[in-house]
Amino acid sequence: MQLSDFSPAPNQGGNPELYEIENRAVDPKGLVLGALAEIAPWRGRSLVDLGCGSGFWLGCYADAAEVIGVEPDPGLVPLAAARDASARVLTGSAEHIPLPDASVDVVHARFAYFWPPRCEPGLQEVLRVLRPGGTLVVIDNDWQNGDFAELLRASAGSAAMGGGVRTHAWWSERGAERTEVLSEWAFDSRDDFAAVLRMEFPDGTADAWLEQHPEATGLSYGFVLFSVRQG
Ligand SMILES: C[S@@+](CC[C@H](N)C(=O)[O-])C[C@H]1O[C@@H](n2cnc3c(N)ncnc32)[C@H](O)[C@@H]1O
Repeated sequence: MQLSDFSPAPNQGGNPELYEIENRAVDPKGLVLGALAEIAPWRGRSLVDLGCGSGFWLGCYADAAEVIGVEPDPGLVPLAAARDASARVLTGSAEHIPLPDASVDVVHARFAYFWPPRCEPGLQEVLRVLRPGGTLVVIDNDWQNGDFAELLRASAGSAAMGGGVRTHAWWSERGAERTEVLSEWAFDSRDDFAAVLRMEFPDGTADAWLEQHPEATGLSYGFVLFSVRQG
């Protein structure tokens, strides 16, 4: 299936092996998952991981009644499908979710699709598939708190002020709640950490940060969760 709205992710789509290493380093104490579970508990409910990539996080929702991964990248769908036999993986996108109206309780998107301002169609599609009382939770970057925010601001240059502020305004106009979680990245080795930083940031930005932190194998990372309830 060709999805006109699909924009390949340069990190996950371009280098799934290195993104796997990144995902393994994310949030080692499970603070983000804990916040997610409080905002939108999935135990005994049906959950969609929208833009699930290679399916790294699908196994975290094992106590849901049903876990469905939706992913548009034809290179990543088979990786997600092979990851977890108990999850159903479907080809689709935020704008085209191949599920009936009012059929799921939680839709969760982790660094996928929801980069305002052009995500209104995806939001409407998510609201279509959510049951009354269901919740969308989007995980995004915090542009203010933590080392990662510092890197984001450095790499965005003069656009830096727009990043977090514009996103927050877009969600706030749609009645979203905002939850901040200060967590971390923790890698097994400096080489892995450096390779992931260079994948995520222009070389100059990554290398300058690495030079200033010669011993670091990780960093502090601020996440923002935006949540919207249906009905
Ligand atoms: C940075 S990756 C994150 C993947 C995964 N959520 C994770 O955390 O491992 C972004 C994902 O969004 C997907 N994506 C791109 N366009 C999309 C769209 N229109 N709707 C849903 N997902 C999309 C990409 O293919 C990719 O898998």
